[in-house]
Amino acid sequence: MNIILIGFMGSGKTSTGRILAKQLGYKFLDTDQIIEQKNGLTCAKIFAQRGEEFFRKQETATLKELHGLDGAVIATGGGIVLSADNRNFLQNLGATVYLKTEPAEILKRVENDTSRPLLSQENKLAEIQNLLATRQPLYLATAQCIIATQTGQPEKAAAAICKILKLEPPCQP
Ligand code: S3P
Repeated sequence: MNIILIGFMGSGKTSTGRILAKQLGYKFLDTDQIIEQKNGLTCAKIFAQRGEEFFRKQETATLKELHGLDGAVIATGGGIVLSADNRNFLQNLGATVYLKTEPAEILKRVENDTSRPLLSQENKLAEIQNLLATRQPLYLATAQCIIATQTGQPEKAAAAICKILKLEPPCQP
């Protein structure tokens, strides 16, 4: 059993994933962190120096390396669902959970964050809305369940995931 967290940048995948993994006694993995370690560069630098296509290939290769994994919570990059291969792989890897946050709230969380290469435009809200227009249907099509992370409380999101997936506590917020 694995739990895979998908969703837009700033939706709380990493913070929720860490808490959930600790509560369940699962391993915690983050595809962005794995890619950064492999390349010795941050995601932002990989995008800047090697381009998005290179990053996406690394993302797919990283997922494939997770084949056979068990007992893990996996936080993924916001664009991982763009590839049909990735979507199929994730659905076979475990329970996929979409952490859903509205654009205005995402903006608040990422506004001053320079580490997100796809949101360096002047009008970040429009950029978020554009990306979400493409991605939201893919998150919805990939996810087994949806958890609203609008309030930004990762403990509550972790508890909600336990409840919806009928996992045993200790999952108290
Ligand atoms: C991306 C999201 C980032 C990271 C990369 C690309 C995206 O991950 O994978 O910068 O395409 O939305 P987070 O969703 O963890 O910020």
